[in-house]
Amino acid sequence: MAIRTIREIGDPVLNKVSKEVKEITPRVKELIGDMFETMYEANGVGLAAPQVGILKRIVVIDTTGEDPLLLINPKLIEADGEQKGNEGCLSVPGKVGIVTRPNHVKVSAQNENFETVEIEGDELLARAICHELEHLDGHLYVEKVEGELMDVEAEEEED
Ligand code: NI
Repeated sequence: MAIRTIREIGDPVLNKVSKEVKEITPRVKELIGDMFETMYEANGVGLAAPQVGILKRIVVIDTTGEDPLLLINPKLIEADGEQKGNEGCLSVPGKVGIVTRPNHVKVSAQNENFETVEIEGDELLARAICHELEHLDGHLYVEKVEGELMDVEAEEEED
């Protein structure tokens, strides 16, 4: 596995629509491993393949540090409730902004064995799923920020 370079806002790859994954090839497996490693190294809770420059519909999420979640070709099938809170993105370093999201979502996706699974999430997981799915269609959360995009507090940036 290897750490990949995280593309930042302004890089045109972040605004492109990613393609469906048709099968789990050794390259796809390697990409998934690299995405988890890259996300953990950057202390992120989610990462989508276009953020490392690969236009494939693959997302990795871990909101607790102990619950790695892989979503291949994810589709949102249910969304309800509402939450309003701060959101950030590894492709928009040092910034946060307030975004309203559903408080509960259900997605259908393929897992590492290319089996179709349904995953449900509440609160932070629901937020992360919505955020990462939008990356696959070329959208960044900054398009949805209510008010100003803010700088992360300096003390939060330490370590
Ligand atoms: Ni992001």
